[in-house]
Amino acid sequence: MRIVLGVGGGIAAYKVASLLRLFTEAGHDVTVIPTEAATRFVGVATWEALSGHPVSNSVFDEVHTVNHVRLGHEAELIVVAPATADLLARSAAGQANDLLTNTLLMAGGCPVLMAPAMHTEMWQHPATQANVETLRSRGVTVLEPATGRLTGADSGPGRLPEPEAIFTAAMALAGAPVAPAGASVGPAAEPDVNAVLATGPSAEPLAVPPLAGLTVTISAGGTREPLDPVRFLGNRSSGKQGVALAAAARDAGARVRLLAAHMEVPAPAGVELVQVETALELRKAALHAAADSDVVIMAAAVADFRPADVSGTKIKKRDDVADPVISLVRNPDILQELVEVRDAASRNQLIVGFAAETGDAEGDVLEYAEAKLRRKACDLLVVNQVGKDRVFGEDTNSVVILSRSGSEPQEASGSKSDVAAAVIDRISAELSRVVPPA
Ligand code: CTP
Repeated sequence: MRIVLGVGGGIAAYKVASLLRLFTEAGHDVTVIPTEAATRFVGVATWEALSGHPVSNSVFDEVHTVNHVRLGHEAELIVVAPATADLLARSAAGQANDLLTNTLLMAGGCPVLMAPAMHTEMWQHPATQANVETLRSRGVTVLEPATGRLTGADSGPGRLPEPEAIFTAAMALAGAPVAPAGASVGPAAEPDVNAVLATGPSAEPLAVPPLAGLTVTISAGGTREPLDPVRFLGNRSSGKQGVALAAAARDAGARVRLLAAHMEVPAPAGVELVQVETALELRKAALHAAADSDVVIMAAAVADFRPADVSGTKIKKRDDVADPVISLVRNPDILQELVEVRDAASRNQLIVGFAAETGDAEGDVLEYAEAKLRRKACDLLVVNQVGKDRVFGEDTNSVVILSRSGSEPQEASGSKSDVAAAVIDRISAELSRVVPPA
C-alpha cells in the first residue's frame, strides 16, 4: 500500500521513526513529508534512510513530477503523526502552505488518520477542539491523544499514542492486515476496526472509533408536500430521533451527511447538512448521497402521497365554484429504491429503515414489522410502536431493532440519544459482520 506519512513539528516526531519502520517492515511503500518545523526535531536524512525515498517539505522540489499533486493522488492511506495544534488548524482551514497540507488537500477518497500530540492546554483549547470536530466531520480519523507524562514537568492528555497503536489503528482504517509482510496472516489477523488497542503500560487505552473512515447518510424530519405556494401536506415528525442518530454516528467517528426535511430541532454540529422539502427532493438527495455512503439510515417520515396537482397560485375559496377536492398520487418508496440500487450495483452498504407500527386484531406490532422488513429488504428495521401515549416530538423513545441477518430482535429505550447510541452500536456490529476482509 502507498502510504504518505506526514510528520508535524513536535518533540514526538522522534517516535514516528519507529512508526515508519513498522510500515516499511509490513511491506508498505512510505513517502515521508515532514513539516519545516518537524525537520528541526528529526532530520531529513533519517526519513530518507528509513523510507528509501527522497524527502522534501517544499512544493518547489521535484516540480517536474508535480509532487504536490501526485503524492495526494497516489496515496492509499495518509497518516499524520504527531499532528500538532498548528497542523490540525492549517488542515481544518484548508490551507496549502507546504507540501504536507497540499497533499492533504489533494487526497481524494483515501483514509486519513491523524495522531495528535501537544500540551494538554493546547489540546483542550476550544480552537483545537473545533478544528478536530471540523476534521472529523470531513471523515478524517483524529485519534484521541494518550494521557501521560508530557515534554516538561506536566502530564495529562496530549501524548502521542505509541507507534504500535498508531500502526494498528492505521491498518484497521485502511482495512489492511496488521501482521508484517512474510508472516502468516490467517483470518484471525484481519484488523478489527472496533478493537480497543492498548498504547503501552503507562498510557491510556486508545479506542479506534467504531465508524472511523465510514460515511453515514441519515434522513430526518418530515417531508412537506405543497398544495399551493402557502399550503402543504405535512406530518408531525420532529426530526429529534434522526438528529440524535446523526450526533451518535458523528461521535462514533463517521463522516455524517444529514438529509433534513422539516425538523423542529437544529442539526448537530460537525455534520454536513442537506436541506430538503418534499419526498421527491429527499429521493434525489438520498440516491445521490448513497452513491458514496457505507451506511444509509432512513429515519425521515416520508409522505407516502403528494397532491396530484400543485397550484402555482394560492387556492381561493370561491362561491361560484365547488370547493376543491385534493387528489393524491403515491410517492416513490425511497428506502426500497435505495436497496434496489445497492443490490443492482452489488455494493457493500448497510441500509436501515424505520417503521411506525400499531398492532390490531390481525397481527401484533412485531408481526407487521417483520413483514415490512421482508418487503423493504433493508438490513435493519428500527420499529416504533405508535399510538397510546407515544406521540411524535417526545424526548424519549422505545424501539425494537429487527435484523434481516436473522439475529434476535433487540429492544432499546430511553432518551432519543440512548436509542440512537443503541442503533449505532447495532450498525457497528452488523458492519463488522458484513464487510468482507480487504
Ligand atoms: N420511506 C421511504 N419512502 C417512502 C415512505 C417511507 O423511504 N415513500 C421509509 C421511511 O423513511 C422509513 C420506512 O420507509 O424508513 C417506513 O416505511 P413505511 O412503509 O412508510 O412505514 P409506515 O409509515 O409505517 O407505512 P405503512 O403505512 O406502509 O405501514
